[in-house]
Amino acid sequence: MVPPGYDPTGRQKACGMAVTKEQVLACLQGIKSPEGIPLPDTGTLSDVVATDGKVFFSISVDAAHVKAWEAVRQRAEEAVRALPGVQSALVALTAERKAGASPARPPPAGARPAPRGDSVQGVPGVEAIIAVASGKGGVGKSTTAVNLALGLASLGLRVGILDADIYGPSLPKLLAIKERPQTLGGTRLKPITRYGLTVMSIGFLIDEETPMIWRGPMVISALTQMLREVEWGALDVMVVDMPPGTGDAQLTMAQQVPLKGAVIVSTPQDLALIDARRGIAMFKRVNVPVLGVIENMSYFLCPHCGTRSDIFSHGGARHEAERLGVPFLGEVPLHMTIREKSDAGLPVVATEPDGPHAKIYRDIAARVRDQLKGGAGRAAPKIVIE
Ligand SMILES: Nc1ncnc2c1ncn2[C@@H]1O[C@H](COP(=O)(O)OP(=O)(O)O)[C@@H](O)[C@H]1O
Ligand SMILES: [Mg+2]
Repeated sequence: MVPPGYDPTGRQKACGMAVTKEQVLACLQGIKSPEGIPLPDTGTLSDVVATDGKVFFSISVDAAHVKAWEAVRQRAEEAVRALPGVQSALVALTAERKAGASPARPPPAGARPAPRGDSVQGVPGVEAIIAVASGKGGVGKSTTAVNLALGLASLGLRVGILDADIYGPSLPKLLAIKERPQTLGGTRLKPITRYGLTVMSIGFLIDEETPMIWRGPMVISALTQMLREVEWGALDVMVVDMPPGTGDAQLTMAQQVPLKGAVIVSTPQDLALIDARRGIAMFKRVNVPVLGVIENMSYFLCPHCGTRSDIFSHGGARHEAERLGVPFLGEVPLHMTIREKSDAGLPVVATEPDGPHAKIYRDIAARVRDQLKGGAGRAAPKIVIE
């Protein structure tokens, strides 16, 4: 039990009003960049999160200038910590971009997106990074990500999978991983290998007790760590299981990861499709090509008689993909075997490679590979955003 007036870490809560984002930004006006510009005017700040006296934001600078900025980061953190109503402040310095690139911050709502282009540095040794995303949770995004990764591996590609779903890291469960990654030389992490996949999960870095509100901002530095401080080795494809939704955390991630493309998972219901549409719009907004849409739980296959029923009016995602001018990658049925195998850490593509479900995922994987080979998105995608 946390006594009243104390936070879960046992610290006494600050009295009076909690600090606001505006107060933090006003305070940061007094902190100057190495060039002498007030910090909020430098275009390096992420969104500032100020919740219950906890403040978090990140400063994104060119890799070449990190040393000079570390002192700025420290001064900013100290200044914010000294504000009345602040219990804790965490300022992360991220060095993501090449010199001269534009700042990697989410564009404010309604603003024209900053072209992402080559501004985000790739991960050495990793040929292509693709996101598996969904407009909302529970649509089978992680199950699809795992089986897609295994499908790509079955095509002879070297594949890694990164679980970046801050709201529900699920790779430890879906791949039955109980061990923790070891550190190499004290700083770099050695990923786990399972079913031939190189695996890393944000679940290894953020414990389940961390409150939701705190996880969103944390993801920026955790994600950088998982991309840059893990020995991924040589990979043809890295599949990233993204957090569901299209909010700030997702948008920031879409910008921070050097994505070759995104795969959107949706169920066929109208409501899920509205969310999927938002997901497609989000990736287009940050200039990440949408490799295609997968309809999951597309139709129900009775495990007893094999009869097929379209319980969610199947085909909605295919129709939606056509309407939005993005490829349709395939339909995965709602099937007990997929659920049971998935939740037991025995993904169907690895454990029932000759079964009908594995074939469906392999076909989808082949389409994704072809999209990547064909340089999806090099031609300007048809943009239909509502
Ligand atoms: N095609 C499918 N058929 C049956 N169950 C599925 C299918 N896809 C996912 N599931 C089940 O649905 C639940 C949610 O899937 P999950 O992959 O964790 O979704 P998300 O990552 O979108 O939250 C899990 O219990 C999973 O086993
Ligand atoms: Mg998941």
